[in-house]
Amino acid sequence: MSRNLRLTLALVLGGALLVLAACAGRDQGAAPQTAAEPVRSADWIAALPEGPTRRQVVLGCTPCHQLGLPVAHRNTLEDWRVVVARMKKIDDDLDLALIPLDAEQLAQWLSKNARMPKQGFSVPVAQADIREYPAGPKKAFYHDMAVTAGRAWIADYFGNKLYGVNVESGAVETYDIPVNVAPGKPGGAHQIDITRDGMLWITFTKSEQVMRFDPGTKEFRVYNGFEKGGNVQYFVVDADRYMYQDAGGGVWMTHFAREILSRLDPKTGEITVYTTPRTEHVKEKGVHLYAAVADSQGRLWYTETHGNRLGVLDPKTGKASEFDMPEPWSGPKRLAIDKDDVLWIPELATGKISVYDTRAGKFIDRLTLPIPGDFPYGIRRNPYTGDLWITGSGSDSLYRLDPKTKKFTIYRLPRAGAYTRTVSFTENGDIWTNYASFPNFHTRGPSEPQGMDTGVVVRLRPK
Ligand code: HEC
Repeated sequence: MSRNLRLTLALVLGGALLVLAACAGRDQGAAPQTAAEPVRSADWIAALPEGPTRRQVVLGCTPCHQLGLPVAHRNTLEDWRVVVARMKKIDDDLDLALIPLDAEQLAQWLSKNARMPKQGFSVPVAQADIREYPAGPKKAFYHDMAVTAGRAWIADYFGNKLYGVNVESGAVETYDIPVNVAPGKPGGAHQIDITRDGMLWITFTKSEQVMRFDPGTKEFRVYNGFEKGGNVQYFVVDADRYMYQDAGGGVWMTHFAREILSRLDPKTGEITVYTTPRTEHVKEKGVHLYAAVADSQGRLWYTETHGNRLGVLDPKTGKASEFDMPEPWSGPKRLAIDKDDVLWIPELATGKISVYDTRAGKFIDRLTLPIPGDFPYGIRRNPYTGDLWITGSGSDSLYRLDPKTKKFTIYRLPRAGAYTRTVSFTENGDIWTNYASFPNFHTRGPSEPQGMDTGVVVRLRPK
């Protein structure tokens, strides 16, 4: 075969493949993809052999940042040893108990099994108009965000500052958070959410406080007295994606490092602690009682991420019960509940979504995210449409899931390492999130090859 003929054939074949790819894209009603899909964290994870070790690696290594591409990977055993030792130290210094595997075992397993994929997983994506709003410094950690009073709010875990971004003008207001810590120490601003009256609430895992911020008067109300060493973590949310308030007006929090939930009376500041059954297999601190939702009867359903359990507390009786997730080390994380009291539970370590009917008392489905290797951190229900939004934390994307048809629509975020933990909604149909990687600089763009220069709130307007 002459060189020219070979070239022509290659071009024709290549062209045919491109046409095929374009048709595949159109068949699904989405814009065709270009052939060269960049390799993302999810692709790197997908190339690791599935099993309990991989699930523990994902559980231990992805709560802070994406693993693998764009920046968190190594090639040799010695390099992995150095990095894993550093990660264990960060984990220990923050007293988080996130990494379940032994350092040497981890380094060995990663150096043996990690492979750089040749290309990224190509999938049809839907179009959206995306706007990024900068706020706060580069060297900070913005765990969560919420929208209220025409502002999108993020807080710095280490720097103890609250930033409110005007959703129209992008102008940023900055507030010092009155956390009870020594100067220079983190308050640990974690969950940010709102109550139906538009008040902003924040949990502080390090200073063991909860605060309410009034976006009108700009005043903080500080609540102290939470269980020491309990890491007050996460507000119980309801099907409308507000913080749950019980009949007495009480708001509820989980604790990350104790198997308890707390009720706070916002008027009096009184805190009531509810215990849950002891968990076997994992030390209490490492169980990670994490996210919780309230059903229509006021029962609180919670996940234990590392303990791999689903639990339910009935505040009427004060009794809680728990059971194992069907698959070991699946990592149930930030779940959502719908109006039929059905739970949508993201499994961080498997990329699946367990669907649990609380009225029937059983799992009724288990969905697989369309992008292999992805690790979904959170699911939020859009109260305006009933759709569920899932963070594609390893694929730089957000998924919309139609709970009736169980169809996924994928929206890609315009950054590499676009690690997200939450989604918020506004009545006009806008979808909100923020880049929430720790470290922040692991999120990168073409004009920020060394990482984002600021914190970033993201508004996604589906087309
Ligand atoms: C508690 C949060 C946390 C956890 C858990 C964590 N990391 Fe990190 N990781 C960081 C931070 C912060 C940095 C940036 C600072 C640094 O490189 O020391 C980082 C950076 C990295 C880097 C890039 C290093 C470089 O020089 O560019 C790699 C690779 C990495 N992590 C791998 C891992 C692995 C593997 C695990 C699981 C064993 C893990 N991380 C778990 C916080 C974490």
